[in-house]
Amino acid sequence: MIPDAFIERLRDSCEIESIISSYLTLKRRGRTLTGLCPFHSEKTPSFTVYPDSQSFYCFGCQKGGSAFTFIQEIERLDFVEAIKLLAGRVGLELPEEAGDDGSSRLRTRILEANRAAARFFHEQLIGPGGSEAYGYLTGRGLTRKTIRTFGLGYSPDSWDALTNHLTGMGFNKRELIEAGLVREGKKGIYDQFRGRVIFPILDLRGNVIGFGGRAMEDGKGPKYLNTSDTPVFNKSRNLYALQAAKGVKSDALLLAEGYMDVIALHQAGFTNAVATLGTALTPDQARLIARYAKRAVIAYDSDSAGQNAARRALSLFSGLDLTVSVLEIEGAKDPDEYIKKYGAQRFGTLIEGGKSAFVFEIDRLKQKHDLETPDGKTAFLNEFCALMADISGEIARDVYIAQIARELDVGKDRLSAATEAIRKKRQGSRGRKQADSLRPYVQDTRPSEGRRTAVDPKADLSGLAAERGMLALLMQNPDYYGEIQSKLTEKDFADPDHAAIYQALRIKLEEQAAPDLALIGPYLDSRQMGIVSGLLTSGQEVKYYREQAEEFLMAIHRQKTDKSPDELGKMSPQQLKEYINTRRAAKS
Ligand code: CTP
Ligand code: MN
Repeated sequence: MIPDAFIERLRDSCEIESIISSYLTLKRRGRTLTGLCPFHSEKTPSFTVYPDSQSFYCFGCQKGGSAFTFIQEIERLDFVEAIKLLAGRVGLELPEEAGDDGSSRLRTRILEANRAAARFFHEQLIGPGGSEAYGYLTGRGLTRKTIRTFGLGYSPDSWDALTNHLTGMGFNKRELIEAGLVREGKKGIYDQFRGRVIFPILDLRGNVIGFGGRAMEDGKGPKYLNTSDTPVFNKSRNLYALQAAKGVKSDALLLAEGYMDVIALHQAGFTNAVATLGTALTPDQARLIARYAKRAVIAYDSDSAGQNAARRALSLFSGLDLTVSVLEIEGAKDPDEYIKKYGAQRFGTLIEGGKSAFVFEIDRLKQKHDLETPDGKTAFLNEFCALMADISGEIARDVYIAQIARELDVGKDRLSAATEAIRKKRQGSRGRKQADSLRPYVQDTRPSEGRRTAVDPKADLSGLAAERGMLALLMQNPDYYGEIQSKLTEKDFADPDHAAIYQALRIKLEEQAAPDLALIGPYLDSRQMGIVSGLLTSGQEVKYYREQAEEFLMAIHRQKTDKSPDELGKMSPQQLKEYINTRRAAKS
């Protein structure tokens, strides 16, 4: 990884306007420069460069970002390659992978402390004090061998067992705090994990980079406690058990929701299972999976939260070079339970029958509409054709269309024609449509006739608009983060791109660094960088206030409890009454 300090130095040695103007002609217009966008074809310039924020944004195709993003896009490079190219151009020398400054020494010490802690936890588990925890694990069906293979452990129910052990080994307070193994309180440091079953997390080289700890009974604090990000651990860039899964002779990776699922899967012979680390799947993790597998099989919980997470994961995989399918686990809540109930063999057949992303989506649409009524059927077919229009392969499109035409007894040619019409229309209006979604927070600075007026952010504050508002506000006022921090997590965002952006901002904000475009670049893909630049652009016109943070927060949380008219229609009078009451309570 390239150190932030170098990225900052490079950023400061590059002028975005001179970099971009070596690729296209820019015209100055006040504080900004405009030109014809190199990323889509246009006749009037909507590509804008903002020297003040060292960013660019195209109002036509929504591409945007820093000078680095521009090089990535135009030269088709990844972030690191783009950095190397620019560093070469301005004559900066790239630092060695691990310079032997203090930070690499600290990393080494943290890894050593983690390894010693993992060993300590494991010894506690198999020792006399660990019998309850050991019983818990075997009670959940894990064998001795599995417990050993995964190096599972137990953190004694004590404030200082680990602290004393590691201090005795010569680790100092700072190292232990930085490792996330201890916390600092008023009376000194104390163990972070107490009375928990421990899951060590390894990186691809086998280093212990962090831990997950599960409470053994409900109600005793959070069910899981995970190491927060440290100099050696970034939970949005690692996957649990990837180290074990990557060597498996299979072109697929199984993506489960949690530690226990992964372990149960490995024990049952599915040694290609991995999981995220207490967060929703991130773009980095999706890319990581694509690097090690040709196929990803999503094996999330069967409840609606799990299925929604599966949909988000699907959207993160789209555009990557791998095929994705989603398992439908019926009769059990998760893979762990399924294997216990029905056995490994049946789980294997489930994998073979995993649904492709489109079949998954078609099934969802089928459930959404009542296909017995003409109206329901029409509504379904409209959405179905819109979905088909997303498929770029003509053959795949034909296969799905033929199948639905047969099932619902409608003309195949009709459906093909409708799909084609949608594709044609989209090709023309794609730019505009996406621009509309950003509209409340993006002011068009073009003085041309295409100019749109800014919408009052307060008017009609939808959940998605609030999400964008919150992100824009945080970029403009990083100091508000302190208040927002505990009230908002990635999971509160309905839009996966917004969630990813929030996560990227947080990584920087938690390091007390400014959430600068150049620094969050490595965490986001190009579409997300486009959204960020759009927000940044709007931020130059709109001033956000502290009180707005509260409004955005409320709207974001509200959308999670909002029910669609469809769902309301299906409620009993009693349920409806309760729903209205909870909404009233939420508003007051
Ligand atoms: N998780 C978390 N914090 C929580 C609950 C869950 O970080 N309070 C994360 C953990 O990484 C967990 C994953 O989300 O592994 C999935 O959660 P869940 O399905 O509740 O956990 P399982 O691993 O299935 O655990 P178990 O079977 O032990 O209940
Ligand atoms: Mn579970």
